Amino acid sequence: MKKILFVCLGNICRSPLAEGIAQKHIADMQLNVEVDSAGTSNWHKGEHPCSNSIKIAKQHGIDISQQISRPISKKDIDDFYYVVAMDERNREELLSFGFPKVYKLGDFGGYGGKDVPDPYFFPGFEGFEKVYEMVYLTTKDFIEKKLV
Ligand code: 4NP
Repeated sequence: MKKILFVCLGNICRSPLAEGIAQKHIADMQLNVEVDSAGTSNWHKGEHPCSNSIKIAKQHGIDISQQISRPISKKDIDDFYYVVAMDERNREELLSFGFPKVYKLGDFGGYGGKDVPDPYFFPGFEGFEKVYEMVYLTTKDFIEKKLV
């Protein structure tokens, strides 16, 4: 079975959303694909996703509250067929960590290679709605292009 790993910096805001949304697309499309997420840092290891990511996902009927942050590991290099970074910094870190090929989510869904903005430092909830929309459309396009 093909497996996709979504990666951001902390694995508490963006990549947990990507994991949850991609799982929904995969279920809707009745595909047999496994999804996980991880962070390039271990700063939030063991934590659940940030409250705003849990909230925006819940508003769309997706429960990401049980996810647990973890850092990337060397084993992931063998385990995952696709590795997808949220921004350019993540992509560069993943390449130097040893992943041979790293996709960037913003290269899909008509976003022209844009980074998924890091909502961790956003003042309010509004940024999470934009991130949700971008992650929804880009993960859908990625799955349709690579896995259907
Ligand atoms: P994420 O957001 O990479 O989307 O999970 C962040 C979470 C935490 C930090 C930065 C970004 N931080 O600096 O702790």
